[in-house]
Amino acid sequence: MASEIHVTPVRQLRWSSVHSHIKGLGLDKDGKARKIADGMVGQEEAREAAGLIVEMVKEGRLGGKGVLIVGPSGTGKTAIAVAMARELGEDTPFVAVNGSEVLAAENKAEFLMQALRRAMGVRMRDVREVITGVVTDLKYIKRTSPFYPYPVLGGAKVTLETKDDSGTFTVSPEVAQQLQALSVRKGDVIMVDVETGEVRRLGRVTEKAQRVFDIDVEESIEMPSGKVRSRREIVRTLTLHDIDASLAAQRAAFTIFGFLREEAAITDDVRARADELVKKLREDGKAELVPGILFVDDAHMLDIEAYSYLTKAMESEFAPIIVLATNRGMTTIRGTDEQSPHGMPRDLLDRLLIITTRPYTEDEIREIIKIRADEEEVLLSDDALETITKIGEGRSLRYAVQLLQPAKIVAQRRGSEKVEARDVEEVSKLFADLRTSIEYVEKYKDYLLR
Ligand SMILES: Nc1ncnc2c1ncn2[C@@H]1O[C@H](COP(=O)(O)OP(=O)(O)OP(=O)(O)O)[C@@H](O)[C@H]1O
Ligand SMILES: [Mg+2]
Repeated sequence: MASEIHVTPVRQLRWSSVHSHIKGLGLDKDGKARKIADGMVGQEEAREAAGLIVEMVKEGRLGGKGVLIVGPSGTGKTAIAVAMARELGEDTPFVAVNGSEVLAAENKAEFLMQALRRAMGVRMRDVREVITGVVTDLKYIKRTSPFYPYPVLGGAKVTLETKDDSGTFTVSPEVAQQLQALSVRKGDVIMVDVETGEVRRLGRVTEKAQRVFDIDVEESIEMPSGKVRSRREIVRTLTLHDIDASLAAQRAAFTIFGFLREEAAITDDVRARADELVKKLREDGKAELVPGILFVDDAHMLDIEAYSYLTKAMESEFAPIIVLATNRGMTTIRGTDEQSPHGMPRDLLDRLLIITTRPYTEDEIREIIKIRADEEEVLLSDDALETITKIGEGRSLRYAVQLLQPAKIVAQRRGSEKVEARDVEEVSKLFADLRTSIEYVEKYKDYLLR
């Protein structure tokens, strides 16, 4: 049964690049925060608390509870969530959504249900006959078709190498298509399931880790050993959502011959079947649940309906760990007139472990700016660094970080690769921070809103 399910990567991340410098929580073996490590600076207590959460998630000891990260704007709440994702390891799902996305969704319950199921991993073990190794040669075979005017893919000839063995194989058009779709090239490590023809790209051995998109760093992996063709235990972690999608597609294929594969709807019925399947696999010792994290940023945007949904989800056996972040204090719960801490209902708050982030000291801000400037390849003079640090302290860190690129452009316009204090001052006059933009709207509200 398990082999019918298509493998897709478990990670589901969409971080803006402003957090690209964060590689982890920067903790030592005892879980103590090092002052500056893994791109993280200060905020020691929150980082250590986050470390404990990661530990508990990995050991499955956080059932029924959630986490709330509270702190003023720009104090690293989102940064800490990114760091937690980095620490969890490859096969623990981490799904990030924003409160406003949930609120804007056409069907909030469906949106949250899908997010929750994407954040639940199912680790499966299976012994399969595979060919695997580093691709050292790959040639596609074209052939002409009586039904089509252009040459079509007729297969491929691929040479694979391990530390101990090598072999050349002629593969079917279906396998060749997957090789193409995955953009497999020399230096990639692949694995092909002999029976199903399913291709997996495991990574690269040659080039160093290459940053593709913010957090999607591709690690270089070790050259495989053993025979190229062999029986291997394959461990793969799918999410509950992957299984839902796969079952829905199979059903659609059955009814309409696969033409609408992509759009196969995931119904309650399909989800019930997926749960059933996972239950069976667990009973047979072939699968285990891997609860991941569903991170809801700007959680104060949620309304009472969404909160009740999440609270209920926390009680279910198949629930991931829910981590919420907010910068709001006492406020009304959206959708009611009731005031509550962080605008969240009491029964939800009762289930949350709360982590707080504090405003940064001047030295911490300076260090963070230095790391960001380095990451964004912005060369700052000492004076420019001081000016940006002051701006970060007086206005907000987030705002200060955002000035780096515009300042670089202004410096380049006057023919300098190095940003000086005056470049920073110039762009800080051009761009408003949040407080200023709110004051601006207040001042001109009679003109802006009619
Ligand atoms: N302790 C830290 N170490 C390194 N970088 C940090 C740290 N805290 C924040 N940053 C960086 O500073 C910027 C602002 O932080 P972030 O967006 O995480 O704040 P936030 O608390 O989520 O703010 P908001 O409430 O406005 O969403 C980001 O670029 C973030 O990566
Ligand atoms: Mg944030």
